[in-house]
Amino acid sequence: MFLNDNLKIFSGSSNTALASAVCKYLGIVLGGANIDRFPDGEKVIKLEDDVRGRDCFVLQSTCKPVDEHLMELLIYLDCLRRASAKRITAVIPYFGYARQDRKDEGRVPITAKLVANIITTAGADRVLAIDLHAHQLQGFFDIPVDHLSSELVLCSYFRDKKISNLAVVSPDVGNIKTAAKYAAHLGGDLAIVHKKRISGSTVQANEIIGDVQGKNVLMCDDIIATAGTVCSAAGLLKERGAQKIYIGAAHGVFAGQALERLEQAPIDEVVVTDTIPPNEEAKKLGNIKVLSVAEMLGEAIKRIHRNESVSSMFNNI
Ligand code: R5P
Repeated sequence: MFLNDNLKIFSGSSNTALASAVCKYLGIVLGGANIDRFPDGEKVIKLEDDVRGRDCFVLQSTCKPVDEHLMELLIYLDCLRRASAKRITAVIPYFGYARQDRKDEGRVPITAKLVANIITTAGADRVLAIDLHAHQLQGFFDIPVDHLSSELVLCSYFRDKKISNLAVVSPDVGNIKTAAKYAAHLGGDLAIVHKKRISGSTVQANEIIGDVQGKNVLMCDDIIATAGTVCSAAGLLKERGAQKIYIGAAHGVFAGQALERLEQAPIDEVVVTDTIPPNEEAKKLGNIKVLSVAEMLGEAIKRIHRNESVSSMFNNI
């Protein structure tokens, strides 16, 4: 693949395996940088490569520890800007703080907007993200956002499985459009779970709109955090006669009780991507599969660098 040395990719410490896989796809070497701490705990980054006038990308998922990874991304952006990079793209495979995207009660913040603001202020000229919690988050940034969808890798995986008698289920109303797209791509019926969130970690699946009796189910979501959403939905789907239950989600956050819940739930397979590096506990669970978004990200970076269309990558899912 021909890419001149005007393109530079750097990695924060959240997901170096993904950054290396992206560079492998592009046939380039990961940019050198030394990430260290001062004795008082402050982080410091020193670039080892010249970036003056270059098209620079820095890959960082703002996953756990969220604040530390976010701060590291901000320092990286500042560092690249002050080193005279020509254009800086923040590649954020998993964008933490995204779910606080509105005031749904009094006296709460909108962290998605706050984080978008500080990323821009720190020096990002563009953002490349995957499955932001809601599409409208693109508008929280006042800089261009290329928003990729994990559908590209997840649909291809589930298509190859040739699941018969398929129903695609959205685990809540917020995800209906995505589920409808999966149903269109894979050729299945559509059903929706009406859920009620009781607390940050407890979810109640109340009702299913649509028929899942005797069907094999693919439930798709953007994030599995505590797994309350997918596990309570899976329980209700079984009660309503679903056969096999597969889950497809972009981001495997696996927080709190998630892994125990997934182990106990009537779920045959959970498929996530490597936007967040899978932890050792998750790898031990036999029914969790991790697909890589490296090629999709690498292809998008190549196209952004060459000023080519990114959206056309999704024309033939
Ligand atoms: C909700 O709007 C999201 O799409 C996910 O369903 C939710 O954030 C998953 O969280 P948890 O796994 O903790 O239920």
